[in-house]
Amino acid sequence: MLSVSLTLLATLALTLIDAFPRSSKVVYRSGGPYSVPLKHNMDCRANTKALGNQIGTRFARRAAADGPLMEVDHLFTVSVAIGTPAHEYDLVIDTTSAETWFISPTCTSTACVGRKVLEPSHSSSSENQYEDFTVHHGEGAVGHGNLFTDIVAIPGVSIENQVFGIATSLTEPFYNLKGDGVLAFPSFDTRSPSFADNAFEGGRLPLNVFSLYLPRRGDGELTLGGVNRSRFAGDLSYVSLSYPLAWQITIEDIGHRGRSLGITLEATVETTASSILLDTRATKALYRNIRGAKRYTARRWTIPCGSNPYFSITMNGIRFKIPKASINLGPVLEGSRDCVSAITSGAEEGHAILGLAFLQNFYTVFDKTTYPHRIGFATLA
Ligand SMILES: *[C@@H]1O[C@H](CO)[C@@H](O)[C@H](O)[C@H]1NC(C)=O
Repeated sequence: MLSVSLTLLATLALTLIDAFPRSSKVVYRSGGPYSVPLKHNMDCRANTKALGNQIGTRFARRAAADGPLMEVDHLFTVSVAIGTPAHEYDLVIDTTSAETWFISPTCTSTACVGRKVLEPSHSSSSENQYEDFTVHHGEGAVGHGNLFTDIVAIPGVSIENQVFGIATSLTEPFYNLKGDGVLAFPSFDTRSPSFADNAFEGGRLPLNVFSLYLPRRGDGELTLGGVNRSRFAGDLSYVSLSYPLAWQITIEDIGHRGRSLGITLEATVETTASSILLDTRATKALYRNIRGAKRYTARRWTIPCGSNPYFSITMNGIRFKIPKASINLGPVLEGSRDCVSAITSGAEEGHAILGLAFLQNFYTVFDKTTYPHRIGFATLA
């Protein structure tokens, strides 16, 4: 996605603008900002090496004394009301994908089974756009379906003709993405303006920003149109986007115990990834600096449980510290001296993904008021 040329995307956007209504009617309850809770979903499964290879997975100790380690996927979902009459869906907050989507009752893929489905004919305000939609999510996760518009609302903000997809097929890897679908937040794709972009365009939010509080434990919070000051201490430190069509910023260096590791990467900020992913070269360079670090699976590494990893990521000259608790995910097996690390390989060459292991330490503000757009980080209160 990141390698697609700007010219191509611009052409694509121009072509598609004709086919879609640009303006969405937005109804605001008051002036905002609007804060809504985000449910923190932790999905535990038995740990196998195969599962350990997947992006965005995380490990935790199982309560049972000597059972195998359990794997935990972290995801934050927001409750969204759709259609007339309105029905509630828990959608995964996603800062990378362009499409908001739900699951069709006709979807028979394994990844669709057992999920809440959206039947557009049950809503009097639903409109079929007679367009196909395709969604990609990480490696091998592809979904197909049709585009619709309908009223999509969170408390305080209602978009009358929000574009979204209804998936009629999803490949297996989507099984790991729990929730009733995805709320893209926001896209940089003019073809399907995201919920946030429509809310920004309505022009009544105090600021064209959305902010996320995604703690290590407990529920989070989304604030649309501003920040919740009581969630963070001190000032926000801003990093400008290094690429205009994604929440992508430049990692200028990664440090360990104050020592520069000389790692430079382009990083996307991803709310659907549990880990911090680096490219293979950077991962190797990083673990060379930790005594006793070992390769565990194709992507996962372990560090000695007694070690004190103390990483920092430098962006815009500012060092963002990652506490040990976000790196050490607990022993590989009960009683083992090797602990699973939250920093994995698996990002494309030259790239990184800052997932929840990073974001859980900061209040994060996605700011579209400036050019280039920027992301602000502040220490949690
Ligand atoms: C802001 O965060 C505090 C907790 O720090 C919470 O109690 C409050 O409800 C939040 N404000 C809004 C407007 O949601």
